[in-house]
Amino acid sequence: MYFELTEEQLSVKEAAKDFTLQELLPGVIERDRDMKYPTEQVQKMGELGFLGMMVSPRYGGGGMDTLSYVLAMEEISKVDSSCSVIMSVNNSLVCWGLEEYGTEDQKQKYLPKLTSGEWIGSFCLSEPEAGSDATSQRTTAVDMGDYYLLNGTKNWITNGGKSSLHLVMAQTNAEKSHRGINALIVEASWPGVHIGAKEDKLGIRASDTHTIMYNDVKVPKNNRIGDDGFGFKFAMKVLSGGRIGIAAQALGIASGAYELALKYSKQREAFGKPISQHQAIAFKLADMATEIEAARLLVYRAAWMKDEGMDYTSSAAMAKLFASEVAMKHTSEAIQVHGGYGYVREYHVERLMRDAKITQIYEGTSEMQRVVISRNILSGQLYEPLWKTETV
Ligand code: CAA
Repeated sequence: MYFELTEEQLSVKEAAKDFTLQELLPGVIERDRDMKYPTEQVQKMGELGFLGMMVSPRYGGGGMDTLSYVLAMEEISKVDSSCSVIMSVNNSLVCWGLEEYGTEDQKQKYLPKLTSGEWIGSFCLSEPEAGSDATSQRTTAVDMGDYYLLNGTKNWITNGGKSSLHLVMAQTNAEKSHRGINALIVEASWPGVHIGAKEDKLGIRASDTHTIMYNDVKVPKNNRIGDDGFGFKFAMKVLSGGRIGIAAQALGIASGAYELALKYSKQREAFGKPISQHQAIAFKLADMATEIEAARLLVYRAAWMKDEGMDYTSSAAMAKLFASEVAMKHTSEAIQVHGGYGYVREYHVERLMRDAKITQIYEGTSEMQRVVISRNILSGQLYEPLWKTETV
């Protein structure tokens, strides 16, 4: 086992840190308060290569490994998870999904726009009646010969009002259940695509979340990803990678809160000394540092497994489950360290706690991660046990 980062990975981390401090920190409180989409910041992310990090340079991407992407997500999420979720959906759901499973024509047509930031993408799986139960797709894509006729409603769509490209999962043959679902590339400018109102959210408030309606949208057959009926498998495979990105976001949120708590505890004095010198606070810092480091190891390992071509489904679910729970717990603890100051906007930690909550919900709730992990344990895909049923 080798735990050092490469020179290239360290320079990506440094670049993301500089970008975060120079471009994201100024105005982050106001953008959150006003639900203001970070237009200039997203444009800059495109220019700096943060929107297509893992995509091959042939299609305008950075050709980087998943760990580099995770490091950038972690740094950016220390300050601005609205920006990091825009980045995460574009990189790991849309660009990765297209590059891995799209045709050469689809990649050439769409990836350069998505990696440069000229276009932003969204991933449209969730519906009013199909959230965790993702096989129950009500959106239909009726086969009309050389095109599909798309009808239905998707909700909680990140980048919904700003994206030019939607990856839409829709049912073509209900008799085949999830094996009848297709994944379609839909351009937002096509007739019949309607964007609903923007959601007023608890956290990641500067990101853009909408309901999207599709009314008789004609989608050319050659905009289908993979074979007929591949859509559900496509969504599951893409979401496994996406969960590594959200796990990195949770890790960044937890780390950002911890760093702020550490800084504050060294400055703030009570009973004649910095509060960090009181065991009540010092032990909190020790617990935070330990659990964040454990989350970091899980997240980096999942990224490494993906890069090594290993099955990372369970590792990604474990990383997301654990990192998001650590983020929720320790953002709350960071507020506790700040006392009353932690409860007001100016000190950032209250925003980090609000942002942490979504990491337990999107790209599969904590409960769904447990479904994925426990199924893999029970089917014997995870771990070779010493005590086997037949030996007891
Ligand atoms: N890779 C490949 N195939 C997979 C897979 C994976 N990781 N997981 C499941 N499948 C396949 C199965 O093999 C099975 O295929 P066959 O029947 O052909 O063998 C098929 O998919 C159905 O699998 P299950 O029977 O396991 O399906 P299920 O109904 O029991 O559900 C689930 C499984 C894990 C709960 C899944 O429904 C799930 O992940 N739900 C959560 C949905 C989710 O994450 N939504 C997030 C929305 S996107 C978002 O948040 C983006 C954003 O904007 C931020």
